[in-house]
Amino acid sequence: MTLPPAAVSAAAPPAPPRRRRRRRLVIALVTIPLAVIVLLVGAAGIWFATNAVRATPPPAGTLDFSAPLAVPPLAPSRVEHGVRVFELTPQEGSSSFVTGGETPTLGYDGAYLGPTIVAQRGETVRVDVTNGLSDPTTVHWHGMHLPAAMDGGPSSPIAPGATWHPEWTIDQPAATLWYHPHLHERTREQVDAGLAGMFLVRDDEESALPLPREYGVDDFPVIVQDRSFHSDGSFAGGLGMQFDGVLGDTILVNGTVAPYLEVGTERVRLRLLNGSSARMYDLAFADGRPFDLIATDGGLLEEPVRATDIPLSPGERAEIVVAMSPGERVVLRSQAPDPALHAGWAAFDVMELRAAASLTPSPEVPTRLASLPAADDADAATERTFVMSGHSINDREMDLGRADVVATVGTSEVWTVRNGNPLPHSFHVHDTQFRILSVDGAPPPPRLAGFKDTIALEGEREYRLLVRFEDYADPTTPYMYHCHLLWHEDQGMMGQFLVVEPAQRPDLKRPEGDTDDRHDH
Ligand code: C2O
Ligand code: CU
Ligand code: CU
Repeated sequence: MTLPPAAVSAAAPPAPPRRRRRRRLVIALVTIPLAVIVLLVGAAGIWFATNAVRATPPPAGTLDFSAPLAVPPLAPSRVEHGVRVFELTPQEGSSSFVTGGETPTLGYDGAYLGPTIVAQRGETVRVDVTNGLSDPTTVHWHGMHLPAAMDGGPSSPIAPGATWHPEWTIDQPAATLWYHPHLHERTREQVDAGLAGMFLVRDDEESALPLPREYGVDDFPVIVQDRSFHSDGSFAGGLGMQFDGVLGDTILVNGTVAPYLEVGTERVRLRLLNGSSARMYDLAFADGRPFDLIATDGGLLEEPVRATDIPLSPGERAEIVVAMSPGERVVLRSQAPDPALHAGWAAFDVMELRAAASLTPSPEVPTRLASLPAADDADAATERTFVMSGHSINDREMDLGRADVVATVGTSEVWTVRNGNPLPHSFHVHDTQFRILSVDGAPPPPRLAGFKDTIALEGEREYRLLVRFEDYADPTTPYMYHCHLLWHEDQGMMGQFLVVEPAQRPDLKRPEGDTDDRHDH
């Protein structure tokens, strides 16, 4: 009910002086803090805005491409009693990225990143990981189907000086996987410092196809990361920490700033990995040339997808084959991404491909690559919903002592994953390669029709995933699912799942020394 103005003034006789003074005091008590809040919010806005500017790479067309692209070495191995054995040593080092000074970095067997591990489907592999850091770490094999005890999640820390010996049999199609630390609440810090490497799985089916496959010749790892630097050359880790975490203003590819890659063949295969902790890319060639998308996270697509761009959120991989003409140069850039994922970014350059004056012929990309089982949810054992919001999943934060999901070995489940925020998240599941059944009720685009272990979640959208738990029942050791924006993951946007035998009781124990401090306050 509203009173006419006259009625209001008639009903409120002039206040006596004391009440008037008190009213002034009340007004002051309300306005002064309000003004301070407005000023603080304004200052924070300016701070965020300037940081956002700082964290934006130079606009497309301005990089000089002065350094040859580093290609990580292949990891050496030996065969012991039928087991292919690799050794990996996370260690401290320093790298030359910028002119201000050396950057203290971490790497596996070197100063930054790690060697590329290659193994064949059917082989049993062991990786002896000796922690040469002064902090604990873990090594997680992202995308690998393997027992939970070998998965290298936060419940498998390796103490400084200790050696961990995970061993498993490679049992999945040829794919571009990767490895990185997964230390509880400290993944971003260790990955951003340089701990990451590629793990390539080969198999007979893929090897029989006429595709570029010679590592470092016509088949290249392309690990894309963004970093910012202090003037002394050290990484600027905490600056620009926004909703997503850290965005850098300098793009590194395989640890090289502004790289060029000399190409000697008519076609090259690029194994693209978004190894950044928060940034989303939409990779495309500057001249708009189409390329063939041949594989996603879990391996080959059924047929190549002709595309002019490929969006990649942190942790995702894509294999593309691009054709080159003799003597030409073309820039791979990240164009302004899908506005649903991230608004307002200008295009920026990533690397340049330089074709030799004469190129070795490459065969055409085959029209048929693989046959994938139909993504059919008819006999899914159960359906679950995961709402990704803020820094939690279904309003819960990561708890090392809690199994959020218990799945039965040999079954499939439908996981409906919804981004409850207008801002981007992503979703990654350990152990298994899933299929996307639908995006907001519609079938996925062809580029998302293959095996995936990580997907970008656009704001407010819903994704139905078909997740299969093929084997490796273990009632005590969990796998993880989480947002792969590493800062979100560290903030607790992660859950744990156990895979058990039918009717087996889950028996997850809180790791020794874990205090579950997040839930104590
Ligand atoms: Cu790439 Cu749980 O990680
Ligand atoms: Cu993973
Ligand atoms: Cu997130």
